[in-house]
Amino acid sequence: MTTHFSHELLDDILHRVRPLIGTGKVADYIPALAEVSPHQLGIAVCTVGGEMFTAGDAYQRFSIQSISKVLSLTLAMTRYNESEIWTRVGKEPSGLPFNSLVLLEMEKGIPRNPFINAGAIIVADMLQSRLSAPRQRMLDFVRKLTGNDDISYDLRVARSELEHGSRNAAIAFLMKSFGNFENNVLTVLENYFHYCALSMNCAELATCFAYLANGGHAPGVSDAIITPLQSRQINALMLTCGMYDGSGEFAFRIGMPGKSGVGGGIVCVVPNEFSVVVWSPELDGSGNSLAGCAALEMLSAKIGRSIF
Ligand code: DON
Repeated sequence: MTTHFSHELLDDILHRVRPLIGTGKVADYIPALAEVSPHQLGIAVCTVGGEMFTAGDAYQRFSIQSISKVLSLTLAMTRYNESEIWTRVGKEPSGLPFNSLVLLEMEKGIPRNPFINAGAIIVADMLQSRLSAPRQRMLDFVRKLTGNDDISYDLRVARSELEHGSRNAAIAFLMKSFGNFENNVLTVLENYFHYCALSMNCAELATCFAYLANGGHAPGVSDAIITPLQSRQINALMLTCGMYDGSGEFAFRIGMPGKSGVGGGIVCVVPNEFSVVVWSPELDGSGNSLAGCAALEMLSAKIGRSIF
């Protein structure tokens, strides 16, 4: 099925959701994020045919935060077999906030899924075990997926997270106490904070995530990034776990696999069709972009697309 996007369609969606700005809250538990102007709003669509449509602040870079959890899981899937990954981290939604410690104690240090903080820290631990320079490898990976060599880490954001990272440190040390950790906790946390501090714009992210719309193949990259099955598995996890305790509501309203970050970005995928990224820094109560969710809901209604 072909979807007919246009810059006008995207402009119209942004125009309609803009009044929501002012009703959410910019993340402030990472001080460097609190300084971002809340009035920004952007959207970008990348079709599997390679077309790009954008509107608003689609070329303004922001902190991708938890969106990076999909990229680190993808890298881990290229270095580990299935059982090595899924014995250390689960595949179930947590129904709890992204930084909760509650289930971790009850479930003996095995995080529910790779998209909550605990799960992504386990994935970062796995990458530390098998990559010689994990931070550089992540940068190389993102640059390859986007074809853009100047994508980098926002070191101010990474430092700010490290300085205010007590909860993530508690999560990591709790997992270590259960034996589910291989490396130095602080080294792994620093890597994790850097991944979250990747700075990209909507258009770059839409290109970056096109491999998940395209069965594991990235535009302009000859070798497959992952297999079609792995791509399907990641999309399934995004649908059930990508928006934390807002995942059910998001599937109900929008019906696309998605992954959010507290920088206000959301990436969504419709397999075999397109990847779409929205960005608006103010968040709802689950830590997902408030205007971003509304824009995606409007997009899926206007083009008549969801995965259902
Ligand atoms: O570890 C953290 O808390 C942040 N670096 C990432 C959290 C996040 O993006 C959750 N997303 N909605």
